[in-house]
Order: sequence, then structure tokens, then C-alpha cells
Amino acid sequence: MLTRSDFYRGDGITLGRDVPVVMAAELPPKPGLNSRDGQARLIHDLASIELQAMELAVRTLYEFPDANPEFRKELADLALEESRHLKLCLRDLRDLGFDWGSWPAHLALWNAVSPEDSLLDRILVVHRYLEASGLDAGESILRRLVGVANKYVNRTVKTIVDEEVGHVAFGSRWYRRVAEELHIDPETDFRERMAVLVYTVPRRERLAMELRRQAGFTEYELEVLEAARAEYERRIGLN
Ligand SMILES: [Fe+2]
Ligand SMILES: [Fe+2]
Repeated sequence: MLTRSDFYRGDGITLGRDVPVVMAAELPPKPGLNSRDGQARLIHDLASIELQAMELAVRTLYEFPDANPEFRKELADLALEESRHLKLCLRDLRDLGFDWGSWPAHLALWNAVSPEDSLLDRILVVHRYLEASGLDAGESILRRLVGVANKYVNRTVKTIVDEEVGHVAFGSRWYRRVAEELHIDPETDFRERMAVLVYTVPRRERLAMELRRQAGFTEYELEVLEAARAEYERRIGLN
């Protein structure tokens, strides 16, 4: 049973979980998607991500009570959509004969934000970085699911990826709007922040260019992101 003290620690809100929590890199190896175990593990990982996405949306609502009411309404709708994604995952997991907690979970998304964030930080990190990286990962999962016989898993992943485009588009719209209100040039700001974010929250998936365009990324932003990631990989010696 979780108590209030599981959620509040020091200067920020932390998260309680009723399953073991590990670092993302410590999760056990993933079986192939042709096996039932592999499909269940994919859905379990997705459930953990959807849960954090829902919690992050609610956290922004909690931490930014004075944000534009229109923004808050859209974000509340987004949180509800995340809860539906989570339900889809839990349903598929059960159908595959597994339960929430069959594997450990990570809190990498939750830990990518900070109580010191401005609203602009939060919109960029959650919706234009983490959720947008989810589009990259989603596109690659959909490719790997071609030929996998479980139509429910395929449908769940497709539904999530389609609806996540809307979440990232929400981030793109409000990022520009809030930047304008603060007299910040969104392109310069995006370039400067990406140069840091690729180091603090590295992502390795190939960019899902078309999905990202649909979600409001400009050609300039895509080029900036590619360049920042290439520079990161060069520095850590991958290229
Ligand atoms: Fe989602
Ligand atoms: Fe989302």
C-alpha cells in the first residue's frame, strides 16, 4: 500500500510504484516479438511509459496552476488519453497471460523533468522531446511488428502511435505560443536546448521524420535535432 510519503521526498514529488523499479538500462533483455513473452514484455514496457506520461501530464497541471486555461484543458484531455493507452496495454497484457509487475519498471521519463522547470522547459522536455522520441520508437516497433500474428498488440501500438502524434502536436503549438509570450525566439531556444538534452536524456532511435512533421516539427528543427544527435554520438565515440 502506497502512502503520501512515497510520493514526496525532499524538494520534489517522487513516484511510488507497486512493482520493482530499476534504471532503464537494468531492465531484463527483451525476448523477440514473435514470442508471447516478447509481446507481453513490449506491452508491459509501454504500460510503464503510458503511466508515466499520464502522471507527467497531471504533474504539469499540479505544478502550473496559472497556465493558460486552454492549455490546461488540452493537457487534461491528454492525461485522459494516456489513461486510455494504459488501459489498452493492461488489457493486452492480461490477454497474453501476464500482469502488471511481471517485470520491473523504470521511471526514466518522470526523472527527466525537474521541480525547477519553467512551463516552457516542461512542454519541450515532455511533449517535444520524450513524447516525440516515443514517435521514433513507435515507428520502429510498428516495423518490427509486421508479420507478428497478434492483431490486438498491433492495434494497440498503432492506436498509441497515431494518438501520440496529437500529443506532440500539442507540445509544438504551445511551445511556440509560450515562447512568443516570453519574447523568446523558438528556433534559437530549440537549438540551444537540444544541444543539452541529447546529452542529459540520450535517445538512439532513428527520427520518424514524417510523424514528426505531422506533429509540428519544422524542417529546421529536424535538422537541428539530427545535428545535435550526430554531435553527441561523435563525442561519445559511436561514429
Ligand atoms: Fe500515450
Ligand atoms: Fe502521449
